[in-house]
Amino acid sequence: MTRVIAGNWKMHHGPSAARDFLSRFRSPDPGPDVRLVLFPSAVSLSACLESASGAQGLEFGVQNLHPEASGAFTGELSAEMAADAGATLALVGHSERRHVFGESDDETRLKVAAAYRAGLTPVLCVGETLPERREGRLQEVILRQLDAVLGDEATGARIAEGTPFMVAYEPVWAIGTGETATPEDAAEAHRMLRARLEGGLGRERAGGVPILYGGSVKPDNAGGLLAAPDVDGVLVGGASLDPDSFAAIAAAAG
Ligand code: PGA
Repeated sequence: MTRVIAGNWKMHHGPSAARDFLSRFRSPDPGPDVRLVLFPSAVSLSACLESASGAQGLEFGVQNLHPEASGAFTGELSAEMAADAGATLALVGHSERRHVFGESDDETRLKVAAAYRAGLTPVLCVGETLPERREGRLQEVILRQLDAVLGDEATGARIAEGTPFMVAYEPVWAIGTGETATPEDAAEAHRMLRARLEGGLGRERAGGVPILYGGSVKPDNAGGLLAAPDVDGVLVGGASLDPDSFAAIAAAAG
C-alpha cells in the first residue's frame, strides 16, 4: 500500500510564506511508495507550484470546494478552477468545515462528486467529537460520514471502479489540541473504516484506499501512528507548517 504524508496548512502561509517553505523543504526521499501532499490556501497554490522542484516530489491540493462548477457563489472555489490552477487533490469534509462552517454529510457527498467531475482525488475527512466518543458513538459517526459518500450511487460506483479515493480519520478532540489518539485508538477506528470499505467495495479495492490518521501528528509520534495496522498515512496540520518538521514526519514513513 502506498503511504501518504499530507500537510493541511489551513489558513496559514500566504504566497510569500509558501515560497519560503518550499525554498527550505528538503524531501527526505522516503521511497517510491510514499506520496507527499500539501494542501495550501488556494491563494498560495500557484506560488507553491512555481516554487516546488521536481526533486521534492510534492503533490498539491485544495482544502475545500464548492459543489457547482461555476456561478454566483461569492468567495467560493470550484473543483474545475482548482484543477485548472494545478491542484490534483481536494480535502472534503474536514472537521473545521463540518463544525465551524456547518457542512453536512450531504454537502460532502456533493463535493466528492464535484472533485470527480474535475478529475481531482477527494480525501474524505471523518471523525467524532469528544462528546460523541464519550457516548460510545465513534463507529456510528464515522461510518455515517463514510456512508454518505460510499452509499451514493454515482460516487460509490466511481470509487468501486477504482477512481482514486482516500479517507482521513481525524478525531475532532485531537485536532490542534496536542491531544493525540494512541496508535491503538487510530487502529480501532481505521479497522472500522476498512471493514466498511471492504463491505461496500470488496476486499481488493478496499485495500487500495489509503486511510490517513490526523490530529496532532508530530515528528515524535508519527512513526508509532504509521506503524499501527490499517494506518496508511497521516494528515498533519500544525506540524506541516515548518519544512523541517514536515520532512521529519515524511521520513518516518520510509
Ligand atoms: P493538527 O491538525 O495536526 O494541527 O491537529 C490536523 C488537521 O486538522 O488536519
